[in-house]
Amino acid sequence: MNIYREQIVKPRLLKLLAGLSVGFLLFQFFLIRVFWKRDEVQNTVDTSKQAHVHVKPLQEPAQPAVANAVKIFVSACAELNIPVFLLEVDILSSLTPDKSPPTTFSNGCLFGCRQHVTFGCYYKYWDTQGIVQLLKSDFAIHSIRQADPRLHHDTIPTHFFLLDRGHKQPTAIQVVMFHSRLGSYFWHGAITPLSRLNRILPSTSSVTIYFGLYAGAYKKFEVDDVQVDNVTVKVPQPPDSFVQQIPHSRFIECNETQATKFAAQYGIDNSDISQKFQRKARQVMAKGKQLLDSLEIRFWLSSGTCLGWFRQCGIIPHSKDVDLGIWISDYNPQLIPTFQENGFKLKHMFGKISDSFELSFSAGDIKLDLFFFYDTPNYMWNGGTQAKTGNKYKYIFPRFTLCWTEFLDLRVRVPCDTLAYIEANYGPNWFRPVTEWDWKKSPSNVKENGVWPEKEWDQVIQVF
Ligand SMILES: *[C@@H]1O[C@H](CO)[C@@H](O)[C@H](O)[C@H]1NC(C)=O
Ligand SMILES: *[C@@H]1O[C@H](CO)[C@@H](O)[C@H](O)[C@H]1NC(C)=O
Repeated sequence: MNIYREQIVKPRLLKLLAGLSVGFLLFQFFLIRVFWKRDEVQNTVDTSKQAHVHVKPLQEPAQPAVANAVKIFVSACAELNIPVFLLEVDILSSLTPDKSPPTTFSNGCLFGCRQHVTFGCYYKYWDTQGIVQLLKSDFAIHSIRQADPRLHHDTIPTHFFLLDRGHKQPTAIQVVMFHSRLGSYFWHGAITPLSRLNRILPSTSSVTIYFGLYAGAYKKFEVDDVQVDNVTVKVPQPPDSFVQQIPHSRFIECNETQATKFAAQYGIDNSDISQKFQRKARQVMAKGKQLLDSLEIRFWLSSGTCLGWFRQCGIIPHSKDVDLGIWISDYNPQLIPTFQENGFKLKHMFGKISDSFELSFSAGDIKLDLFFFYDTPNYMWNGGTQAKTGNKYKYIFPRFTLCWTEFLDLRVRVPCDTLAYIEANYGPNWFRPVTEWDWKKSPSNVKENGVWPEKEWDQVIQVF
């Protein structure tokens, strides 16, 4: 530990700052009071706002204490071989992806101009004991834990907060634990309740929390070195791809309590037919995900597949298909050929890109329906077409955003407010199993939407 302290050369700025007049310090203090308001802890439902929340840098000389705290922390992690990586969004955003690391990026006021610095760490390599041993004299260390969603352990650590003991303007270093799941993505937990931060963080400080308002999921990433304010830190690679995921990273778990309740009330269908269907449906889902991911087309569980996830954490055995939702704005003409080249048969194509588009594929005896969703200021909708009559239908949903979840050991998206989505589609009695279902009449949110003009039928009603 002592060896480490001696290696840290106090930045010249400290001397500079000490030399400044009392009047200037008062002025700076005033700015700090103005800019670093505590109420910046954001707690908004719309995760897209998360990315726009930002630390407001002071355009005044750096606070060396902060850079120093970061240096001490980063050196300790290096000594323990803990690969922590920087998660400050504004710094990551300013790194160009093509610059091969180490890149020097510094305006001399990066760490210095904030009171709260966020790092992430692959949980696998984190070493609480080692960190406490090396840093307990410099920092007060708080850990936040939660019940393990995968039930491998009772509780797991999700965040650490290290508060610099040595300074009047306390620096908080937040370390977010990235837990590997399914071997294909990283998950981090939420800070619950968020009010815990009031007890951990000193009342004089204000922080912007980007990580921990919600649980989040990120595709697997590596880290590499860059230099920030003369400190070498690791950052996720490529930084822009990581940053782009942040506003859409919110993760929700399937509600196992609800699934247990459903199974207790209605039983589990373990028949051979049911099991076979579930196995095949999972394969279709996995293949569909792989293809849509390769085309960078976002999709979510829709209709019966979404209901199965929400109610039972599984596939509804008596359904015969897999239903996915896709924004029409994400449509890519490569979609149909890509699916056809990969073992899917196009069964029908209804509507057109500008109106009520839907596709239905088959893979063996499983149907994969892709419903395309249209956004309006007040609601979102997808369309239906009856091939025989040319009648059009419209299914209306309250506007929604997408969250990640796990389903059949795959990372997929669902509408974040899944209950609102399910209730729109299935009404208040969605919990009760229904085996008779008429897609033109049963949904609570179906509206008749006129008839396709006969001259368009060749285009808008294609059955193969
Ligand atoms: C970084 O190091 C260089 C060379 O040692 C020095 O000139 C510069 O002032 C340092 N910058 C900061 C922000 O400390
Ligand atoms: C999970 O489902 C149960 C039973 O339906 C419900 O009471 C509970 O609020 C749900 N939990 C969450 C986190 O939604």
